[in-house]
Amino acid sequence: MSGAGEGRPPILSMQDVEVVYDGIVLGLRSVSLTVSEGSIVALLGANGAGKSTTLKAASGLLSAERGEVRRGTVHYRGRPIAARTPSRLVRDGLVQVLEGRRCFPHLSVEENLATGAFAGRPSRPELARAVERVYERFPALRDKRRTAAGHLSGGEQQMLAIGRALVGRPSLVLLDEPSMGLAPKVVEEIFLLVRELHAREGVSFLLAEQNAAAALAMADSAYVLENGSVVASGSSADIRAREDVRGLYLGERAGRRARFRDRCRPADRAPERTEGPVQTRGVGAAASAAAD
Ligand SMILES: Nc1ncnc2c1ncn2[C@@H]1O[C@H](COP(=O)(O)OP(=O)(O)OP(=O)(O)O)[C@@H](O)[C@H]1O
Ligand SMILES: [Mg+2]
Repeated sequence: MSGAGEGRPPILSMQDVEVVYDGIVLGLRSVSLTVSEGSIVALLGANGAGKSTTLKAASGLLSAERGEVRRGTVHYRGRPIAARTPSRLVRDGLVQVLEGRRCFPHLSVEENLATGAFAGRPSRPELARAVERVYERFPALRDKRRTAAGHLSGGEQQMLAIGRALVGRPSLVLLDEPSMGLAPKVVEEIFLLVRELHAREGVSFLLAEQNAAAALAMADSAYVLENGSVVASGSSADIRAREDVRGLYLGERAGRRARFRDRCRPADRAPERTEGPVQTRGVGAAASAAAD
């Protein structure tokens, strides 16, 4: 794959990863991707494409949802993650910010931030310094440090979720749909912060997003997932320039979204398919649709 980050060692690499939930539901069919040290990589795709599952496979959080990597390998900093617990991975600098700005709603902003340091078991002064760094970056959170997280706005909760990840001084952040449900202006602010963190502190990001235009504007490279498989990858500029991806993921043919492969295979392009609805139920449903 071309793009920024090329030539730098991978901080994360996934090879032919298949994920199954509950021993039967296919979450990922086959995903291979690389995040180079110090790069921002976007992971694009429609609902149910497998973005969150890919991130959880990388952070070791699948088991919490009765999911497992059934085939393939995931390496973080050149070593397989399989032998490490999620909290060990956090201590090693690999942190996931879950979809939906998960904060503890009854805990204050500051208490939420403290939970981010849990895996690292820092001393009190270390924790205070780490929290102060987050406040420097997100001044709005300092103003509301004693407020219950449940009373924050959506944008503030997303900042808190990211801030909590930063308390552990991560090297790689897996960020799941940070723009979800937020006003464009707030999305802009969140993405600006990600860019700053990347530029100033060299943090690497794997960013799952449905807001492809915003993600590609920021990322060095991108992967497009569909039905649990990678269907396109390249530098952000390459992906942005591809007609097929533009039509499906950049909103340029809104209302006419179809499956990515329908646009890639000439045989499927004509006559125009009429089956219509966007694929939203993921791999299992896709498998039966493909068998039609
Ligand atoms: N906990 C779970 N148990 C069973 N199946 C799951 C679970 N989580 C996800 N799946 C299935 O795995 C597939 C991929 O889902 P995933 O959540 O990774 O998609 P996504 O790209 O993140 O979608 P979205 O944009 O809606 O967040 C889907 O078919 C989904 O139904
Ligand atoms: Mg998701």
